Amino acid sequence: MRQPRILVVDANGAAGLPYAGLVARLQPMDLRVEKTAAGAAAALERDAWDLGVVTARDAGTAAALAAAVRSADAELPLVVVDAHPTVAAARQCLQAGAGDYLELDSADAQLEDALVRLLSAARRRDAEEVLRRAVERPYTFEGFLGESPAMRAVYSVIDRVAASSVDVLVTGETGTGKELVARALHQRSRRAAAPFVPVDCGAIPDALMESEFFGHEKGAFTGADGRRMGLVEFADGGTLFLDEVGELPLALQAKLLRVLQERRVRRVGARQETSVDVRVIAATSRNLDGMVERGEFRRDLFYRINVVRIDLPPLRERGDDVGLLAEFFANRAAQEMGKTVSGLSIDAYQVLKNYGWPGNVRELQNAIRRAVAMTRSATPDVEDLPDEIVAAAGRVVQAGPGDDGFFPRRAEHVARFEKQYLTDLLARHHGDVSAAARDAKLPRGTLYRLMKAHALDGAAFRK
Ligand SMILES: Nc1ncnc2c1ncn2[C@@H]1O[C@H](COP(=O)(O)OP(=O)(O)OP(=O)(O)O)[C@@H](O)[C@H]1O
Ligand SMILES: [Mg+2]
Repeated sequence: MRQPRILVVDANGAAGLPYAGLVARLQPMDLRVEKTAAGAAAALERDAWDLGVVTARDAGTAAALAAAVRSADAELPLVVVDAHPTVAAARQCLQAGAGDYLELDSADAQLEDALVRLLSAARRRDAEEVLRRAVERPYTFEGFLGESPAMRAVYSVIDRVAASSVDVLVTGETGTGKELVARALHQRSRRAAAPFVPVDCGAIPDALMESEFFGHEKGAFTGADGRRMGLVEFADGGTLFLDEVGELPLALQAKLLRVLQERRVRRVGARQETSVDVRVIAATSRNLDGMVERGEFRRDLFYRINVVRIDLPPLRERGDDVGLLAEFFANRAAQEMGKTVSGLSIDAYQVLKNYGWPGNVRELQNAIRRAVAMTRSATPDVEDLPDEIVAAAGRVVQAGPGDDGFFPRRAEHVARFEKQYLTDLLARHHGDVSAAARDAKLPRGTLYRLMKAHALDGAAFRK
């Protein structure tokens, strides 16, 4: 850490500094002595300081110097050391904004205490500043990026239900972050130290399902040449994540329901049951309610896992999160690839904003990785994005200078608004351009130029 920088104001300059012991201790710090209020003000103007110390030997000067320092810098921690302390001077100094008022005769230690206190307050402010800046960066929650109202609602539910062991059903289109939700719930629960066991229900061959889920004893079936623990048992104490739960065959749904209700499993071929303590988080991109109606998913299992539901919004409903995520993925990909890339061009953002993102965050992530890999520029542009995305995003209004990429048709809206305003204005003044310009507080020339840009003719408003 850098040395604290201390500005001392003393009418006699460095030579006259009365607190020798303290100066010795302060020496390793960055210490500077000014003799006048003006000199101090100039130093405060020029450089950044951690602490100001005013020393005075004449009654009355202390408060004046303190006030001068304070008016040059409203924030600087300030301590006054007075050789002729009076109650009135103390009050004046403190009113002028000094953090401390000490008498010169008091032990060096007291002064040092005050310095330490003020400096640590300054450091705390620095730390708070760093924190504040960190907070101002895009809002993140357990690996999630995004500050749209829809996502904030999701964070809030995760926050509320994570600690309880309640089972959760996570729904949402592909690539919306369902697994991220499951991991966040696990991470924020008392089970965090125990295993998080993801099971892709669509990827296990039917014939192996039972033994995968519940385990088996040696010789339970041909090929079972040893005992094996099932995934449910493996998740004991932790979280079982049933991904794409809608893919489970009906026969297994019944067995799973039993296990979840009894909290006991029986390995295939075993006589005895083992008790297990698992929290179940299930996810699906299918419409489970519809599957229940059609008899493709057991109603009782559905009720069992649908205690709390978290529905992830599709990316196209998350507003400016698209921009945030794109920026983040671009920087991360650039880092991984060792390229210098900062953000994307405004036109590229417009394409991303216009596109519908059927593959949601995962699709965005891949598109951005590709753009960063392809680009020869420091700000990847439309031509670096996958053609299908550009084509599907449709025509994009060219962004003008100073135009904000997140509002693709802003220029259009502004132009329409401007024309409407001018039309009303001219109508009100019956085409009298001078009167209209005065009313709008515009130079006449400017008004003429705007009328020309919008093909408006004053004569048309005369009657
Ligand atoms: N809000 C987000 N912020 C940052 N990264 C995200 C966010 N949402 C998703 N991701 C990332 O996008 C990818 C897809 O997320 P995830 O695997 O959780 O989606 P999913 O809903 O399970 O998808 P699928 O249904 O296809 O399995 C992951 O790499 C994940 O880290
Ligand atoms: Mg998934």
